[in-house]
Amino acid sequence: MSSKNLKIAALAGDGIGPEVMREAIKVLRAVEKKFSLTVNLTEAPVGWAGIDAAGKALPDATLKLCKESDCILFGSVGLPDRDPSIPKEERPERAALLRLRKEFGLFANLRPVKLPKELSHACPLSKERQGDGIDILVVRELTGGMYFGQPKKTEEISAGAGKGTIQRAIDTMVYTTPEIERIAHVAFRTARLRRKKLTSIDKANVLENGILWREVVTKVSKEYPDVTLEHMFVDNGAMQLMLRPTQFDVMLCENMFGDILSDEAAALAGSLGMLPSASLGAQSGDRVYGFYEPAGGTAPDIAGKNLANPIAQILSVALMLRHSFGFNDAANAVEAAVGKVIASGLRTGDIFSASETNARKVGTTEMGDAIAAAI
Ligand code: IPM
Ligand code: MG
Repeated sequence: MSSKNLKIAALAGDGIGPEVMREAIKVLRAVEKKFSLTVNLTEAPVGWAGIDAAGKALPDATLKLCKESDCILFGSVGLPDRDPSIPKEERPERAALLRLRKEFGLFANLRPVKLPKELSHACPLSKERQGDGIDILVVRELTGGMYFGQPKKTEEISAGAGKGTIQRAIDTMVYTTPEIERIAHVAFRTARLRRKKLTSIDKANVLENGILWREVVTKVSKEYPDVTLEHMFVDNGAMQLMLRPTQFDVMLCENMFGDILSDEAAALAGSLGMLPSASLGAQSGDRVYGFYEPAGGTAPDIAGKNLANPIAQILSVALMLRHSFGFNDAANAVEAAVGKVIASGLRTGDIFSASETNARKVGTTEMGDAIAAAI
């Protein structure tokens, strides 16, 4: 990519969002200096922070900033215990996160799960099951399926014969052929750059959606003869992740299966606090709109205590540099700096084990400082 002027909207959000975002920006500034980039980064409120600042989870000014930017660096939103009087449609998960995904057409969610060898103690599986290392990319469809399908509602219906009413909740799983095709292409293309194996997850033994998913993915696979495709039912996929995670390279999932399996896979990488993600829209000219966020949530229990692991947010900066700007060297530098600091023994609480001899427990800020210094 030609331009070295990066226009970024930074939306830290709630819970640990602001403190991990602070460290990510610190690292980005170090990259800016080292690679002579011009980072034009503007921060704006979202989530409960948006509701507090402007009465809306996605304030108009924040959305405007996003539209004027090349990409969004996102923290996390949602505090389940806050103000139950705010209706579900206006709460941050739907009104900010899902809305942004839809607004920018971010259909392709990439969640790389990698267990560094120094953190093998933090993986819940035995060393034997970890094999030569776990390295999985979950490709999750992000703008279709049950999350967005209509009808979606809770209604009162008659319980029959004078028994009054009962409630009924309806969510609808919907996929069209083009929606499956475009995410399948993303998965095959990324598999090509990796170990060339794609596992497509579905529930074709029960769901119409599963049958169509399998058919369309199989058809798309003809264009990628160098990639080995296998199909797996989602329940088996969940089990195989625990039994033999090293069999997976790229896992292609519809929206909800990907939500669930990516959290399960994340646990294998030691901690949700290590997992970045990229959500990408359709190519338009030479541009792809990108949204980068840690896969973990707001973690309200540890927010504001300098305990959170900023690495997922920092690695999201690496994904941003690579996917939105094509700055592979800068992206590699961020990943290498994280690797170096992990190798040096620095650990936030989530990845710390007293059994490691050279490990030192540090807070959010110190971890960020060390990674920025290692750039
Ligand atoms: C994720 C999260 C979101 C999702 C929530 C917060 C709406 O779990 O990004 O995985 O379900 O997509
Ligand atoms: Mg999730």
